[in-house]
Amino acid sequence: MTRPQHPRTARPRHYLMCRPTHFEVTYSINPWMDPAKPVDGPLAVTQWERLRDLYTALGHTVEEITPLPGLPDMVYAANGATVVDGRVLGARFRNAERSAEGPAYLEWFRARGYRETLDPVHVNEGEGDFLVTDTCVLAGRGFRSTPAGHREAQEFFGRPVVGLDLVDPRYYHLDTALSVLDGDEVMYHPAAFSPGSRSVLRRLFPDALLVAEADAEVFGLNAVSDGLNVVLPEAATGLAAQLRGRGFRPIGVDLSELLKGGGSVKCCTLEIRPGT
Ligand code: ARG
Repeated sequence: MTRPQHPRTARPRHYLMCRPTHFEVTYSINPWMDPAKPVDGPLAVTQWERLRDLYTALGHTVEEITPLPGLPDMVYAANGATVVDGRVLGARFRNAERSAEGPAYLEWFRARGYRETLDPVHVNEGEGDFLVTDTCVLAGRGFRSTPAGHREAQEFFGRPVVGLDLVDPRYYHLDTALSVLDGDEVMYHPAAFSPGSRSVLRRLFPDALLVAEADAEVFGLNAVSDGLNVVLPEAATGLAAQLRGRGFRPIGVDLSELLKGGGSVKCCTLEIRPGT
């Protein structure tokens, strides 16, 4: 097992979240969503508040966007945009049910004075499919975001965008199959990727933490790391042990209600990366 060369340190982050006031499962656009299965709305809010309060307790800044009625998936803030160097790439959703979320998130940033913004032409579902490492932006495709959306991101951010093909519909967004732990250190579930993309990942990240099916299917990879603390679904117990072995501090949370929409910790968390 790879041991950290240096002690793990947390860096304070800036997150945007959306309270699940209007959360429900009325349509199905991923295999986890079953409109016949009841959602406990008040419990969803309580679980979400615990996540928000945990971030604050860890020293992070959390802002909130006002949830809009009729957009039940707006709680998955990670999909709302991608923010790198203070530059805001808006989202364009594949499914009509979510299309109004893109402009709503972009407007939030514009109203707060973010001047470098782009309303994209091509489909990209924000940080659902774009994960930022120190040297590149890893980009999922196959189910939601498109190669044209990847190109648009590379041109806008001026950072290399590495396309990765997702092949299992249960892992329809990159952030369900891969997570950035720190700098250029990642963890992922190999079976979620095409053979070629697995080779790319091995080449780029030979020391990556490989995550088993049992932890991936409870959304263990839908995690948020600050460099030390890794907030992840509490059911991913094997992964928590692996993380501890690498010097991280895993913190398990229960987001059972939001899981019914096909999302967990990371999906609810959009990271705002400042410019310098
Ligand atoms: N119901 C939402 C969808 O299918 C869930 C999005 C989860 N978000 C994420 N970042 N993976 O689009």
